[in-house]
Amino acid sequence: MATILQNDHFLRACLRQATPYTPVWLMRQAGRYLPEYCQTRAKAGSFMGLATNTDFATEVTLQPLDLYPLDAAILFSDILTVPDAMGLGLSFEAGEGPRFAKTTRDEASVAALAVPDMAKLRYVFDAVTSIRKALNGRVPLIGFAGSPWTLACYMVEGRGSDDYRAVKTLMYSRPDLMHRILEVNALSVAAYLNAQIEAGAQAVMIFDSWGGVLADGAFQQFSLRYTAMVLSHLRRGHEGKVIPRLVFTKGGGLWLSEMAALDCDVLGLDWTMNLGRARHLVGGTEGGPGKALQGNIDPMVLFANPEQIDAAVQQVLASFGTPHTDPSTTGPTHIFNLGHGINQLTPPENVAALVEAVHKHSRAMRDVTEKV
Ligand code: CP3
Repeated sequence: MATILQNDHFLRACLRQATPYTPVWLMRQAGRYLPEYCQTRAKAGSFMGLATNTDFATEVTLQPLDLYPLDAAILFSDILTVPDAMGLGLSFEAGEGPRFAKTTRDEASVAALAVPDMAKLRYVFDAVTSIRKALNGRVPLIGFAGSPWTLACYMVEGRGSDDYRAVKTLMYSRPDLMHRILEVNALSVAAYLNAQIEAGAQAVMIFDSWGGVLADGAFQQFSLRYTAMVLSHLRRGHEGKVIPRLVFTKGGGLWLSEMAALDCDVLGLDWTMNLGRARHLVGGTEGGPGKALQGNIDPMVLFANPEQIDAAVQQVLASFGTPHTDPSTTGPTHIFNLGHGINQLTPPENVAALVEAVHKHSRAMRDVTEKV
């Protein structure tokens, strides 16, 4: 574990430190848009077969890094491993997304809910350790979990949903049961992320993918509050290194000022938010406190041609503006990412164009500022 990181730009940007260019990684960078991933998945037989096998999970985590000069790796797993370990019975039907055998919607199922024995998630922590070894210091490894609210959406609905009717019915009619689910989830996610950190995760990200479906007021009470609870139980460092925390709420741009109070380092944004405005609201100033920002190009831009992708990348970089460049202090920084996961039909060669454009233009931006 004492291996020196060859590329620490992502970790530095998380902590609002200057970097020579804007680091980039992509949500769902290991996934079905890569033929290499599909081949390994076929060998594994199923999504869970892939995620629970240390060698396969390591192989697919590294695939996008071998193809593109990305600045971070993300653990190959899923947010739904936690409710699975609670005994809800997760499966992924081909082409249909995740399913739980049991739902959590009534007094009895909520009362039965408890923080799972982390030994049931041992395969995840083993994958973290194995991936760290395989990376051998190339780039840092991000661990992750779902937010308590986003996990509750799947636990109550039993699957993905278009209208969130079951989970919102429970929230509005039995807030007591909803709060109990969310508290169990928060304590479970905190234990899960702490175990990932102990296994070698160098940053941790909380995916609040469905926070944005909540009404104003409900978001603060049922999503934000429990994300804050997770953060309050997380260890701050490991083996002498600070472990940056990232929080991504899809559709959260509207609540950015309230999210600034979270005890995290980075806020992730989807494509509906202007990064310059976000920087103004929460990015802070040189030497002062603030959040690093991650995002936020529309993943569908990857269906345009390489010249158009290049132009769209420049627009996103320009919307943030030149990041902080003074190595002697901290200031506003940007981590380039998509505004949500990469689409499975994305042409892989377009990902190369995007990563190249981010590195090239973000270097040029800094050079210009330094000469002024
Ligand atoms: O490369 C990476 O980003 C790491 C791996 C990763 C996966 N899921 C693998 C996966 C990560 C970070 C996730 C997080 C996740 N999972 C989220 C939060 C991020 C987001 O996209 O909002 C959510 C909501 C889930 C739940 C989930 N898992 C759904 C809804 C689905 C089906 C939808 C789909 O894209 O097919 C999954 C399956 C899943 N998880 C796949 C992958 C690569 C595809 C399934 C497959 O190979 O069969």
